[in-house]
Amino acid sequence: MLVLGIETSCDDTAAAVVSDARQVLSSVVSSQSIHKLYGGVVPEIASRQHIRLIVPTVRTALADAGVRLEDIDAIAVTKGPGLIGSLLVGLCFAKAMSFATGKPYIGVNHIEAHLFAALVETNELEPPFVGLCVSGGHTELMYVRAFGDYELLGSTVDDAAGEAIDKVAKMLGLGFPGGPEIETLSSGGDPSRITFPKARLKRKGHDMSFSGLKTAVKYFVEKETPLDEKLRADVAASFEKAVVDALVDKLSHACRSKEATQAVVAGGVACNSALREAARRACAALGVKLIVPSRELCSDNGVMVAVAGTLRLRQGESSPLDLTASSTLEELLEIEGR
Ligand code: KG4
Ligand code: ZN
Repeated sequence: MLVLGIETSCDDTAAAVVSDARQVLSSVVSSQSIHKLYGGVVPEIASRQHIRLIVPTVRTALADAGVRLEDIDAIAVTKGPGLIGSLLVGLCFAKAMSFATGKPYIGVNHIEAHLFAALVETNELEPPFVGLCVSGGHTELMYVRAFGDYELLGSTVDDAAGEAIDKVAKMLGLGFPGGPEIETLSSGGDPSRITFPKARLKRKGHDMSFSGLKTAVKYFVEKETPLDEKLRADVAASFEKAVVDALVDKLSHACRSKEATQAVVAGGVACNSALREAARRACAALGVKLIVPSRELCSDNGVMVAVAGTLRLRQGESSPLDLTASSTLEELLEIEGR
């Protein structure tokens, strides 16, 4: 089955062609660099950019794959969670393509797509597993019993991890998105120099919190300004360590409480080397097999949407033309009756 995947939930306009949820024929990600000017994603600008970028992005994905629209069996598109205006561009585009070509289309849950992206890279991704999806908009810990059968164990009660990272990067005078820049700055810093509060709530629960940590960094930076280069790197490294420790603590706790033998860490923040390494060590100590997609598949892309869409289509599902986009995961799960 040849599926065109379309992703427009935030500030990346992405499209990919994937065969049988296994083989990537093309993947195009048009990142909207305009948001760098504002130090964060401006939702209205993101929607307008998606409108400009979606046709060339999809055309390039088809051309790179060496296929024509007629060769595609179905279209998969992110239906949520995400920025509502951004989601609507991709969703309406996919509906229009479906209507014009008579091919089925399927709305896909963005978190589900992140968690199953690695299917194009490994044959070993097989539920049940504990999934941690950590990005600019989400920090969700799920128990995946089977494809489509999820228990939301916990999520952030305030900022998403990536959002906190982006805000701290701004405090340190770094550009947007902050994650890669924090990672580079941290590499020259001492992660044990400053003990920031660990970004977590009750030890026993699965929910997380990152705004207290972000505020602690803000107060520290205000107090110590002007920061010399060494202290700046130490702040970045100490902050990165606090985020990574909190995420890995919660991942380990979830694996233990679910007696999981497999875990997946995905989403843009999973590009972070310190997180990848700490999760690998923690899972190895617990005897849990860890799957982390390659970096291109961690940040938003069309491949993951095509993969999750293919799995849904194989179950006989397709979406009606009156499907709506959902900005939150809770709303999405409610609509899906979970
Ligand atoms: O999944 P994603 O591409 O988009 C959303 O769904 O939000 O994630 C983007 C987030 C941003 O907050 C970005 O700063 C963060 O992922 N990120 C990183 C790294 N690369 C991207 N965070 C930490 N370290 C990185 N290397
Ligand atoms: Zn994402």
